Amino acid sequence: MTTVATARSMRQRAELTFKQNVQHGRHGWLRLTPAYSVKLVDQVLAEFGDGARTVFEPFSGTGTTPLCAAYRGLRAVATDINPFLIWLARVKTAKYTEKHRAELQAASKKIATRVRDGKARTTALPPLKNIERWWHPAELEFVAALRAEVDRAADGPVSDLLKVAFCRSMISLSNAAFNHQSMSFKDSSRTRQVSLALEHPNAKFVEQFLSDVRTVADAATDNPPGNVRIEKRDARGQSGLGAPEGSFDLLITSPPYPNRMSYIRELRPYMYWLGFLTDAKEAGELDWEAIGGTWGIATSRLLTWKPTDAFIPKYLPPIIEKISAAHPKNGVLMAQYVHKYFDDMFGHFQSAAKIVRPGGSAHYIVGNSTFYGHLVPAERLYCDQLLAAGFKAADARAIRKRDSKKELVGFHVIGVR
Ligand SMILES: C[S@@+](CC[C@H](N)C(=O)[O-])C[C@H]1O[C@@H](n2cnc3c(N)ncnc32)[C@H](O)[C@@H]1O
Repeated sequence: MTTVATARSMRQRAELTFKQNVQHGRHGWLRLTPAYSVKLVDQVLAEFGDGARTVFEPFSGTGTTPLCAAYRGLRAVATDINPFLIWLARVKTAKYTEKHRAELQAASKKIATRVRDGKARTTALPPLKNIERWWHPAELEFVAALRAEVDRAADGPVSDLLKVAFCRSMISLSNAAFNHQSMSFKDSSRTRQVSLALEHPNAKFVEQFLSDVRTVADAATDNPPGNVRIEKRDARGQSGLGAPEGSFDLLITSPPYPNRMSYIRELRPYMYWLGFLTDAKEAGELDWEAIGGTWGIATSRLLTWKPTDAFIPKYLPPIIEKISAAHPKNGVLMAQYVHKYFDDMFGHFQSAAKIVRPGGSAHYIVGNSTFYGHLVPAERLYCDQLLAAGFKAADARAIRKRDSKKELVGFHVIGVR
């Protein structure tokens, strides 16, 4: 197995993260942190996809894997538990006609005229905490009007495409900054100056929306030839995927990392505006269902969580104990977090062993992590858990350094069934 030591000299390869997807047609429709790179999926498909016809993606997120697979003419089934991401992945992998594209453009022009002429309706603001931190008043008013107009402008596939364009405009008019691993806020005094400097902010905002519609329209008819099915399912204990179990040639995914990133937290502006979230309690409940979820109610529930009979390699409990002792207030919580993460992942690996056909392979792009200076070697744990779950062989390759901390590395873990 490749060790952290051999990975020290590695560069932080931005082309292997979601940042690279922005250039890639439908892959670049929305720039969301959970996504991994098209290039990485293509490399895995090129190296391991010889003769493969079917691909399974258990943590589908923004749908990078099924879209890449479908562009190569493969059949893909993908699952996730986040309803917004299920919707987005379906929209990104659907087939659109020239008629859809023409209707999209016509609908967007109508919306633009209504907003410019001050005839737009508006909608109630979503209960996003501290919404005034996200948008300045003029931008917020525009986003609410755009949301209302998009809703009444079209149905079916055209409405979905309009919503993607709405999401692009909504986020680009916000104060959210994406220069960290997770979303944060821009320096608000600077953005405020920019926005006050505009003579007719509304007209600029409308231009932004029309440009976002063009980006969506440009890739809409670039239809992938392969068939895709996206379903809402928990990656732990999956069965009955429609295809006979054991039939998938490849499993390719980037699962949640054991690093406390909350996808619900990251995606909340999209989820609230599109109505996939209606309150904070619901957000906490959804995050509790997610592997590695840690937001709101999910945090307090961790403290009373009890392990199942999942296989845990014997070198993990001593690491968990060290994490627990490392901090008087949060050590126990972090220790529970790490333990539950690998308990959950084992549940998934057991399902994966049933889903991948004998001779097929599973590919996990995952990073290790540290808690109070204690390294959690996710790649080694994955290999041992894959073997215990029924895979014949498992190995990990280091692929990139994740940030300035020298021990944080991204791995490609391969399990052969
Ligand atoms: C790193 S992201 C996946 C990124 C994806 N490969 C892409 O390119 O967008 C991890 C995903 O796992 C999903 N997830 C977390 N827990 C899950 C579970 N128990 N079952 C299914 N999906 C889950 C999250 O909603 C999130 O979309």
